[in-house]
Amino acid sequence: MLFDFATQDQTEAHAAATARALDAPCVFALRGPLGAGKTTWVRAFLRALGHDGVVPSPTYTLVEPYEADGLKIWHVDLYRLQDPLELEGLGVRELLDGNAVMLVEWPERWPEIETRSDISLDFRHGASESARQLKMDAASERGQGLLGRAELRKIETQT
Ligand SMILES: Nc1ncnc2c1ncn2[C@@H]1O[C@H](COP(=O)(O)OP(=O)(O)O)[C@@H](O)[C@H]1O
Ligand SMILES: [Mg+2]
Repeated sequence: MLFDFATQDQTEAHAAATARALDAPCVFALRGPLGAGKTTWVRAFLRALGHDGVVPSPTYTLVEPYEADGLKIWHVDLYRLQDPLELEGLGVRELLDGNAVMLVEWPERWPEIETRSDISLDFRHGASESARQLKMDAASERGQGLLGRAELRKIETQT
C-alpha cells in the first residue's frame, strides 16, 4: 500500500488510523533515512492509543517501554546498535514471544526482527520539505489483516 503525505498532520493521521486498526501482538519494522518521519509516526501512534506523556527518541537507550490501551508497547531504535548481543538484558527478545506491540526503527540492524515483523513501513522524503511517501507492506498473515482494514484503505493513495 502506498500513501502520500503533504504535511506532518497527514503522517500523524496515518499513524492514528493504524492504531485504530491494530490487532495486537504486532511487530512494525520502520525503515527510511534519518529525518524521514519514523519517530514522528511512532509518537502519533502512541498518542492515538491514549499515551499522553513524552516520547523520547530511544537512540541511546535503544528501547522505551509504554503501556496504553491495555497494551504493552515497545519503541526500539537500533540506529546505534553495533551487535544484536547488546539487546540481551534489555528484555526485547523476550518480548517477541509475548503479546506486545513492537515499533522498531532501523530493523536492518537486527536480522531476527526482519524475520519476525508483521508490517514494514518504508518512509521516503518527498518533493517538498514536509512531503513524505510511505510504502506499507505486510510481512505476515496478521499484517495482511491490518492492511485490509477500512481505516487504512480509505486514506491509501489511489493509483
Ligand atoms: N510529513 C511529515 N511527516 C513526518 N515528519 C515530518 C513531515 N514533515 C516534516 N516533518 C519533520 O521531519 C522530521 C522527522 O524526524 P523524525 O520523525 O525524528 O525522523 P526519523 O525518526 O525517521 O529519523 C521532524 O522534525 C518532523 O517535524
Ligand atoms: Mg527516529
